[in-house]
Amino acid sequence: MAHGSRIEPATEQSHLRDLTDADFEKFRRIIYETAGITLNEGKKELLRARLGKILRKRGLTSFTDYLAEIENDDSGDEITVLLDAVSTNVTSFFREPDHFRFMESTVLPALAAARNQTGARKVRIWCAGCSTGEEPYSLAVTLRETLPGIEGWDVKILATDISTRVLQIARNGLYAGDKFKTMPSPVVNRWFVPAEVHGEGGYYRVQHAIRKMVTFAHLNLHADYPFKGPFDAIFCRNVMIYFDRPTQETLVNRYHRYLAEDGYLFIGHSESLNSIAHPFKYVRPAVYRKTGAASAERKGPSA
Ligand SMILES: C[S@@+](CC[C@H](N)C(=O)[O-])C[C@H]1O[C@@H](n2cnc3c(N)ncnc32)[C@H](O)[C@@H]1O
Repeated sequence: MAHGSRIEPATEQSHLRDLTDADFEKFRRIIYETAGITLNEGKKELLRARLGKILRKRGLTSFTDYLAEIENDDSGDEITVLLDAVSTNVTSFFREPDHFRFMESTVLPALAAARNQTGARKVRIWCAGCSTGEEPYSLAVTLRETLPGIEGWDVKILATDISTRVLQIARNGLYAGDKFKTMPSPVVNRWFVPAEVHGEGGYYRVQHAIRKMVTFAHLNLHADYPFKGPFDAIFCRNVMIYFDRPTQETLVNRYHRYLAEDGYLFIGHSESLNSIAHPFKYVRPAVYRKTGAASAERKGPSA
């Protein structure tokens, strides 16, 4: 990778303060065209701060030099670094717990009854935008705690994200003790083991029984998908919030094609499908279902 000219640390700060409107526009375009993520004017400072770290690390003098590195890189690695820097990865175990309760009370018992009847004991879930892994591991725990005889089932949770940095943390499966505040301790003790890592509050490692249910993969939701589905449920929560309406609409309609008949789509509670055209049936807050009678017209809550 060819780096641009290097500077002395004393002059670095003033150079890095200078993210011109033209360069900001170029970054915005690249990020939108690659990942569908929209950055409004208000995000200029955030972008300057985050990309400034990359510039400092590489000894680059300007954002223009960094843009040139991205534009001259055919491998796609530079784009990945850029997207790693701009993505927002906030997540937690059993975030928005109502969804996990609904899985436990309704989705999984119905699935178990249906699949036990046919003998095809198989479950496929896609966690799209899984961040550092807390969401897919929470799903795996829910399945373990809910599906009787799960050892005899073929269960796979596909967990994907555009950020290689978060995927590394997710695959590692090691979390600080304070991350488990939202989980009852018997559940923590069943599925996580104290790790030999020093740090305040201790660390826990995801048990093998949970880990083996989840496959992590790098995937841009905006690109082609190297799988067909169908999935019984897709969790895409707190991801589409960063996309504009046309991008959300394309994605949601794509999810419809990747779901099994009667499959569920879970979105974040602060998100809504109200203003986009989609064929889903509204079930409850932030939960939608693919039904046989689905049509292309918008079906949402009356609110
Ligand atoms: C705020 S986190 C949400 C994590 C989790 N779903 C939750 O609700 O707790 C959003 C995640 O979406 C990912 N993301 C953003 N744009 C993406 C894209 N185009 N393709 C795949 N993942 C994307 C980010 O990297 C980030 O990890």
